[in-house]
Amino acid sequence: MSEEALGHVCPPSVIKWLNSPLRKLIQSPRKIMGKYVKPGDTAVDLGCGGGFFAVELARMVGDSGRVIAVDLQQEMREFTRRLAVKKGVMERITLHQCQEKDIGLSDEKVDFALAFYMVHEVPDRDRFLKQVVELLNPEARFMLIEPSHHVKPEEFKLILEEAAIAGLKQVEPIKRAMSRGMLFSLKL
Ligand SMILES: C[S@@+](CC[C@H](N)C(=O)[O-])C[C@H]1O[C@@H](n2cnc3c(N)ncnc32)[C@H](O)[C@@H]1O
Repeated sequence: MSEEALGHVCPPSVIKWLNSPLRKLIQSPRKIMGKYVKPGDTAVDLGCGGGFFAVELARMVGDSGRVIAVDLQQEMREFTRRLAVKKGVMERITLHQCQEKDIGLSDEKVDFALAFYMVHEVPDRDRFLKQVVELLNPEARFMLIEPSHHVKPEEFKLILEEAAIAGLKQVEPIKRAMSRGMLFSLKL
């Protein structure tokens, strides 16, 4: 599918909001993910947008770690690249172009996976969640966070049920402003 046809995904014009410095006050990446990511980890940011989380993940994994920043849209990946260069962490980041229905990282395993405000844009969630499971190391954590204004409680409940069917175990809810979230693992 061409990028022009991706009418249901968040357009690059919203980057100014997604990457706004004010966002750090209510959605601080370190406060949200800091206790689940350690130096040396490999992390994946699924639907990385403009790199708001990918760049902070790169700081958390340190020199010996790696972040795979995945997005459908070339313009989003380019924003991520520019932000990572500006913040001096680009050498820890691999940009990856996925397809709408295919993450396409079948040779990779990660210690931490993030899907922040993107799952509601994914057309085949069952397939996506199965592919996330395949990406995870046995001890890995997967954080799924959705915007509460787009994803109502019934829809989020459905996503949790789909995650359970894919093989994801609920570890703990992630409570943040304007969001519904859950931390998953492969085993409890
Ligand atoms: C609302 S933005 C959130 C960006 C980022 N996670 C953040 O919180 O700043 C959603 C992002 O997910 C990407 N996206 C949507 N569907 C996707 C899919 N099937 N696979 C990968 N990325 C996708 C969009 O291109 C967009 O960059």
